[in-house]
Amino acid sequence: MTGLDLTGRTAIVTGASRGIGLAVARDLAAAGANVVLTSRKQDAADAAAAQVTAAGVRGTALGVGAHAVDEDAARRCVDLTVERFGRLDILVNNAGTNPAFGPVLAQDHARFAKTFDVNLWGPVLWTSLAVQAWMGEHGGAVVNTASIGGMAPEANIGLYNASKAALIHLTRQLALELAPRVRVNAVAPGVVRTRLAEALWKDHEDRLP
Ligand SMILES: NC(=O)c1ccc[n+]([C@@H]2O[C@H](COP(=O)([O-])OP(=O)(O)OC[C@H]3O[C@@H](n4cnc5c(N)ncnc54)[C@H](OP(=O)(O)O)[C@@H]3O)[C@@H](O)[C@H]2O)c1
Repeated sequence: MTGLDLTGRTAIVTGASRGIGLAVARDLAAAGANVVLTSRKQDAADAAAAQVTAAGVRGTALGVGAHAVDEDAARRCVDLTVERFGRLDILVNNAGTNPAFGPVLAQDHARFAKTFDVNLWGPVLWTSLAVQAWMGEHGGAVVNTASIGGMAPEANIGLYNASKAALIHLTRQLALELAPRVRVNAVAPGVVRTRLAEALWKDHEDRLP
């Protein structure tokens, strides 16, 4: 994010205890933003915030334990952010899950529900809370972490990809509904060597860029 100055801005990054979310949080804080990092576990969120601070960033990093679809925890996190930093300019809906590896018809309702709950309802819930608490009046930017898999079918991660395809559509829908005050965008990463994507890269290094 060279050249980007976010001094005085505040961001929440969900699912920031490791992987893509932690890297995004570190970059936002390096650009000067105050950043709230979430994880399901408070200690993991605290450890991630400490890692961001240790990187010598300009912004302040704060860890908050909040499951992506626990409405009370999400509301507490958004309220705490506005209370602590006075504003909420950026929301990165990054928390994601893939408990349903394999063909779609081999999945059960529990894995389907968890996948769509975390990957699709989570962004709706957090965006709604951010709009209510700050962005609806003052404006802001929402970024949803989708996936390249949401744009084309692929073996073994069909249900996850369907949730990301839905997230891409949801992003367009919310962009329409919240314009012009709130910008809503999605990013669609390819394979990144993180825990979530382990099945895609661990024994296939030769096929990855
Ligand atoms: N890696 C890839 O190749 C790839 C490609 C495209 C898109 N993505 C997307 O990128 C995002 C980040 O994934 P990653 O690859 O960085 O995976 P990761 O390293 O496994 O990180 C996942 C993060 O999400 C958090 N999380 C998981 N379930 C959660 C829940 N129910 N509530 C709150 N936080 C939750 C985890 O925190 P705790 O475990 O500490 O709670 C962790 O911080 C996801 O949306 C994923 O779908 C990844």
